Amino acid sequence: REELLFSYKGILYPATICSPEAFRAMESFEARPDDVILAGYPKTGTNWVGQILTDLIATFEKRNQDEENHVNKEELEEFPYLEIGDAEKYERMSKLPSRRVIFTHLIPENLPRSIFKSKAKILLLLRNLKDVATSFYHFSNALSALPSYESWDDFFIAFMTGKMPWGSYFNYLSEWNKHVDDKNIMTITYEELKENQALGVKNIAAFLGLSLTEEEIQDIVERSSFQSMKKNSPKTHGALGTALFRKGGVCDWKSFFNEDQNQAMDKAFEELLAGTKLGTKLKYEIYCK
Ligand code: A3P
Repeated sequence: REELLFSYKGILYPATICSPEAFRAMESFEARPDDVILAGYPKTGTNWVGQILTDLIATFEKRNQDEENHVNKEELEEFPYLEIGDAEKYERMSKLPSRRVIFTHLIPENLPRSIFKSKAKILLLLRNLKDVATSFYHFSNALSALPSYESWDDFFIAFMTGKMPWGSYFNYLSEWNKHVDDKNIMTITYEELKENQALGVKNIAAFLGLSLTEEEIQDIVERSSFQSMKKNSPKTHGALGTALFRKGGVCDWKSFFNEDQNQAMDKAFEELLAGTKLGTKLKYEIYCK
């Protein structure tokens, strides 16, 4: 399993889709003030919120741009994850038109400095640890690019120790917690978006300074529903779609965690995160009635 991974600045990454050369090249990445960075640990709902962000920006731009200057972004598109790809990716990204939406699973320490210097907006996406673990386990076993696990118990150990792609989610949250009061950061949770998607979309639009009509918001909500995204996934995500759009709900962890695992995670949460600002946003129990 380890041979699929390499370590960079103390965190493991899958060697199948990331490389130390690309990571070094990434340091020269130039963020723009109007970039939108979607930061979230894997399986927090990146594709979902990524769809909302791109749709919000596209809807706004379409309405405000004259046809002549219209850029067909689809043709220019680069795989949206900052740290996934080859070393030449950053050169190509420098040619993309604004506004760019860039996804990343990195901790702030490992992001190119220009992201913080440029005042680019960062949307930090959170999801409760237990559902993230459950989702990550299924995704790992469905995807050949990621290490697979013989059993849920096996995966649980990797998740708790952080010896897995993109490292420990506990560490991820502690590191991002240091930036929680930054002016250019907004946090949103998978759970609040699930509870009221229209409100979430409106809050994101307001954060980006985009004014959209009620109807435009509703269209975006519809296009980003789990059902629509799953249905469109052969077109948008190819073979990845089946693995990616798995259940799209909250509290599926209840079918996987045994009592010991549940207690172990609660204890680690208590010790590492409960007292932090991000920790208080992850009180998942209220969603599992
Ligand atoms: P599950 O495995 O629990 O179903 P990421 O995009 O960061 O890899 O996250 C994937 C998780 O987000 C999966 O969770 C997936 O089903 C869920 N997801 C994707 N699109 C969604 C949507 N439109 N609504 C709700 N959940 C969605």
